[in-house]
Amino acid sequence: MKVLLAVLKQIYKPALCTGNPRCLSSGATSGLLPLGDEAPMVGSSPELVQKLRSQVEVRTDFITEAEEAAFLRELDPGLKKKRYEFDHWDDAIHGYRETERLRWGAACEEILNRVRSTAFPECSQLLGPVHVIDLDKTGYIKPHIDSVKFCGSTIAGLSLLSDSIMRLVKEDTPSEWLDLLLSRRSLYILRDQARYKFTHEILKNEESVFNGQRVPRQRRISVICRNLPG
Ligand code: OGA
Ligand code: MN
Repeated sequence: MKVLLAVLKQIYKPALCTGNPRCLSSGATSGLLPLGDEAPMVGSSPELVQKLRSQVEVRTDFITEAEEAAFLRELDPGLKKKRYEFDHWDDAIHGYRETERLRWGAACEEILNRVRSTAFPECSQLLGPVHVIDLDKTGYIKPHIDSVKFCGSTIAGLSLLSDSIMRLVKEDTPSEWLDLLLSRRSLYILRDQARYKFTHEILKNEESVFNGQRVPRQRRISVICRNLPG
């Protein structure tokens, strides 16, 4: 257990992110273009949104309230025994506790199999343990790129208990960015360039605004499946 958690810690590789990638005040000239009815994404330009469309997915209401409750029943007792960590300034995450889990009860296993078959090709070798991050209401995840040493081309995450904003920023061109509205019970999938060339982060409550609309942050639990490097 200890060793695996140590490995997962190395997933976090903070990357430099300069400048404010989004402009809240202007309308038509801001480039904040909603992608369409289904995809809760806005980005720095329509071209970028279009380009990333195949590499970034957000599936709203991927799980039901009952399925969310099943995860809570399974995860909450263990999480509650840990304390939220706030004071590691060099950490990529602030205000969190985490765990990873290899074996799940039947209800959760079934949901996770749905996540796996949705996000990964059948032949894909997955990272055994599923990673769980419990972010306090005041917690957030700073911009980083997951370690290429430990994880492959695809990251798939369920969001429980709270809506949140995930921001992607191109590592070498910070003016190129994409905001995803991760609604409670949604599934997001990052693939390929979106995973390797863009940092991702979860915005703190004070900055949690999507396309001009406030998205209040509550405690948020994410359940993340990854594949192994190819
Ligand atoms: C991570 C990460 C996002 C999330 O753990 O590397 O980016 O949804 N998590 O919790
Ligand atoms: Mn990450």
